[in-house]
Amino acid sequence: MSLLTRLRAFKWPTIAYEVQRNLVSRARERRGELRATTALGATLDKPAKRVAYSRNAFEGFLEHGRLDPDAHTGLRVLELGPGEDLCVALRFLAAGAARVSCIDRFSFQIDPAWERDVYRLLLGDVGKDGRDRLADIVSPDGELRADGERLEVVRGAGIEDGAERLRDRSFDLIVSVAVLEHVYDLAAALRAMNALLAPGGLMVHQVDLRDHGMFTGGGRHPLEFLTIDERLYRLMTSHTGAPNRERICAYRELLADLGHEVSIEVTNVGGARENLAPYRERIAVGAEVDRALAASIERMRGRLAPRFAPLPVEELAATGIVVRSSKASTAA
Ligand SMILES: C[S@@+](CC[C@H](N)C(=O)[O-])C[C@H]1O[C@@H](n2cnc3c(N)ncnc32)[C@H](O)[C@@H]1O
Repeated sequence: MSLLTRLRAFKWPTIAYEVQRNLVSRARERRGELRATTALGATLDKPAKRVAYSRNAFEGFLEHGRLDPDAHTGLRVLELGPGEDLCVALRFLAAGAARVSCIDRFSFQIDPAWERDVYRLLLGDVGKDGRDRLADIVSPDGELRADGERLEVVRGAGIEDGAERLRDRSFDLIVSVAVLEHVYDLAAALRAMNALLAPGGLMVHQVDLRDHGMFTGGGRHPLEFLTIDERLYRLMTSHTGAPNRERICAYRELLADLGHEVSIEVTNVGGARENLAPYRERIAVGAEVDRALAASIERMRGRLAPRFAPLPVEELAATGIVVRSSKASTAA
């Protein structure tokens, strides 16, 4: 067991560690060294795993966005925070999307051989029509040619302030996986996406509401990170990309304020290793939330930071969601 894992079993040493990590990250950002920060303990996945992950993500967008797999022709898609590879974006192009743009707050220095392996394997996973559609973007040996026409990639800019760097200003579909929990200002990010969304456009976001190992890495309760006071939590995380702690109610309220029609499915409960199958629009104690988890949440309630303490136990138990949000077709 690493020293860091052992440290994460203790609340205050973990807080001190995160504060110093954040200060280092802030200093780097101020020096203009905007770099990729990877999730705790993360390394590059095996190429085949990455391709399988993107298949799962893409199929998740179709299923939970209730998208017709045959209706991609002409679609303009924006992917937020693709991370190390562009497999999800390429899958949309392979399915017939007209153009896909990607925007990511960080830049990544990736081993070109790894990248080629990923894209070569992806070509083997998208069928003949998909390969034909990708022919001018991915060579048979996996060389990627983001031409800026059908595939545009903007790096080093968050969605909140980087939207003007995108060539298209209007998208039919905006998607993300495991990104919205990392944005520093969720309201600003959703406003920026709403401005880019065409009337009648749709957003589908898969969001991980867990603590990303901050305390659970040391075996502590999945809600331990919600006990930290707002100002201290900012001091720990303002420049590291650690989770922003927004819960389901924030997504519902912010999107309703933008006039969207919103539906949210819960994908994960209590930080479980396995997601719910199927995802649920509602979860209940005694069903998806087992009674022991509910009791442990109630025992923590008195220690939760003020904005989390009044939330219903089911909302606190939900640790993963898919948000489907559609913009009205005409201005109200
Ligand atoms: C956990 S990674 C997920 C990457 C990829 N979507 C996946 O599922 O493997 C989060 C990604 O979101 C990006 N990100 C964080 N904040 C962002 C923002 N405000 N705008 C755009 N991208 C952002 C990060 O740089 C990172 O690439």
